[in-house]
Amino acid sequence: MSEAILLVGGQGTRLRPLTDSMPKPLLPLAGIACTTHQLLKAKAAGVTRVVLATSYLADVFEAQYGAGEELGLELVYAVEKEPLGTGGAIANAGQFLNGNGPVLIFNGDVISNHSLEDQYRVHEESGAIATLHLTPVEDARAYGCVPLDEKGRVTAFLEKMDNPVTNLINAGCYLFDRSVIEGIGLNTVISVEREIFPELVKRHVQGYISNEYWIDLGTPEAFTRASADIISGRAFSPALGQLNLEFLADGADVAPGAAITGGTFLDKGVKIDAGALVHHSVVLADTYVGESAKVENSFVGRGVRIGAGVRLKNVAIGDGVVLSEGVEVPEGARISA
Ligand code: GDD
Ligand code: MG
Repeated sequence: MSEAILLVGGQGTRLRPLTDSMPKPLLPLAGIACTTHQLLKAKAAGVTRVVLATSYLADVFEAQYGAGEELGLELVYAVEKEPLGTGGAIANAGQFLNGNGPVLIFNGDVISNHSLEDQYRVHEESGAIATLHLTPVEDARAYGCVPLDEKGRVTAFLEKMDNPVTNLINAGCYLFDRSVIEGIGLNTVISVEREIFPELVKRHVQGYISNEYWIDLGTPEAFTRASADIISGRAFSPALGQLNLEFLADGADVAPGAAITGGTFLDKGVKIDAGALVHHSVVLADTYVGESAKVENSFVGRGVRIGAGVRLKNVAIGDGVVLSEGVEVPEGARISA
């Protein structure tokens, strides 16, 4: 498992306006881009070379990571002019692979504590052509539903169905034999979940179940929760070594009498005024939270001004938004400048 493909070309529609100028995978969790957490996890498991399959805001990835020197990985970019879907993205990225052995392929919007080494072992031992990381969830409707036989072999792949046949879902991390990648047509829009897996299961696809921490970062609520979970230690990331927890306080200016609780992340240049409460939230650089304002379970972008006494709950606020004193913001709102 020395090579990987990271799928980071989606538009992040459900995260708007946070994804208007920043691709979803680069939004910060505990102050560090999701992609960095994922790349360092892959590196810790022995991956040395990663092809990033990009499309939406592709340039931003290369600008941030270059050839990967800082992370100690070799990074290559496979850019789709028009998004090719997850299967088309894998085929396109496959052209940039140059090693041997199974390839790790993972969705760019997932944080997971499962063991890549164990998943690899299961792949090798089972002799499958592909091995999928699976995790149990309460409501499987928004995911790929993956039933298994008694030997852990995948019997069907049912993407986003109304009546899931099992609560085991595709957690978005695969090991593929190279022949599978080579078998996908180039320059064709195709979904790995809807078109390729249903065919592959007729051969041999293995399931690797893990009950470890797992989250899909499809919504602002999920991002906020994952960030808090990393800060509070509920979720582990090898990138945490780079996170100077004091920086959370040092980089931000918190007035006496303000309360910062619940694994909140305050980026540099954030100013919190007296009597304000920021709970279980992410607040990006240079944002101001006014006196006695209350921000809960929310993701607040850069350079936002939140007036005195304003109450925010479960909201996503885009960069540069101004919320004056007295403004009422409904729970769950998405606001852009
Ligand atoms: N390069 C490229 N091109 N990447 C893409 C494209 C594309 O056309 N479309 C999606 N992606 C990337 C996204 O950036 C994301 O990292 C990943 O593929 C999955 O896409 P999502 O849009 O986040 O899919 P989802 O969350 O609805 O469902 C997927 O993930 C679930 C688990 O989190 C599926 O794989 C489900 O089966 C799975 O259960
Ligand atoms: Mg997703």
